[in-house]
Amino acid sequence: SMAEKAGYKHFMLKEIYEQPQAILNTLRGRVLPEEGEVIFEESGITQDLIKKTKMVNLVACGTSWHAGLVAKYWIEKWVRIPVQVDLASEFRYRDLLVDDSWLTIPISQSGETADTLAGLRIAKDHGSTVISICNVVGSTITRESDGTIYTHAGPEIGVASTKAFTSQLAALYLLGLFMAKARGTLDQKAIKEKIDVMLEVPGLIEEELKAWHNRAKDLSCEFSQYPNFLYLGRGLHFPVALEGALKLKEISYIHAEGYAAGEMKHGPIALIDKNMPVVCLAPQDHVYEKLLSNIEEVRSRRGIVISLGEKGDEKLKKLSKELIEVPKVDDRDVNPFLYTIPLQLLAYEIAVQRGCDVDQPRNLAKSVTVE
Ligand code: G6P
Repeated sequence: SMAEKAGYKHFMLKEIYEQPQAILNTLRGRVLPEEGEVIFEESGITQDLIKKTKMVNLVACGTSWHAGLVAKYWIEKWVRIPVQVDLASEFRYRDLLVDDSWLTIPISQSGETADTLAGLRIAKDHGSTVISICNVVGSTITRESDGTIYTHAGPEIGVASTKAFTSQLAALYLLGLFMAKARGTLDQKAIKEKIDVMLEVPGLIEEELKAWHNRAKDLSCEFSQYPNFLYLGRGLHFPVALEGALKLKEISYIHAEGYAAGEMKHGPIALIDKNMPVVCLAPQDHVYEKLLSNIEEVRSRRGIVISLGEKGDEKLKKLSKELIEVPKVDDRDVNPFLYTIPLQLLAYEIAVQRGCDVDQPRNLAKSVTVE
């Protein structure tokens, strides 16, 4: 009913709008901004565990796997430990190198995904410690882990994951800072600054939601009938591109692919013509110029450039058919939070425009408990 949806037309839209609160719930009680410290009351996550870890092993499916891909960039940069990110369905059937120096982190909203659970069990059999990131309290994955960081995002009803994803990101961000402190790879001041910018994120999202939603509505009128979409990003924005494409295909049934922008020349560029919208994630980070070159390549083949970039970026605006503006932050490591949400809204509005059953897309299940 409308009442359960708090006046929103779909659970998915309600959950998109709940993200500032969901992220705050993940952060609550876990940061001491003055001290520049992250604390986990949860059992199992100790400084000693982090000190002895030689490999971080992230295992997940679907949207949760995208959260893992983002975390690889954060943890390798801040903690200087190698991170491998696996699809659970691949991990479970591979000849593994896992041993007791590994820290395995299954990431799962439901805590019931069959492949992720199987991956957890295999990692444990190899002697790895297992700390899960999970939203559902008491779920199977949490019961079988040595410890769990709960995301506390609240129940997610829409099949396509939204607030569960950004709260997983928040949990992984905190874990990365905890690890950096334990290993001494970031000093207190740096950690404090990273906590401060993270604490600004919910407010920034709150301020932008309406504008992003209006942009998504406008764009959905223009773009709902295209059969294909390409999403491009580099670095932290590559997994965000994957997630944006996944959202679109899940709920609108438009074929969409996310790609590392630098890989475009090895395949997808062959598909670009005047009928191909290309969503380009182009913040002014260290690979901005590279992304602009990719945009030029799209333009010269008459692809339709829809960019996400920083407010006031006139250069990007000129190169793009459409620009969705995202606030510029002091530390772009929090960009995955900010760039994901406009893409969720774009997918949502396009799906609505196409008359799709947004909360229960065909052939998909909220949690996949069988293989
Ligand atoms: C299903 C859902 C996705 C989800 C994936 C992993 O495919 O439709 O939204 O990302 O499972 O689920 P989990 O509960 O393990 O995060």
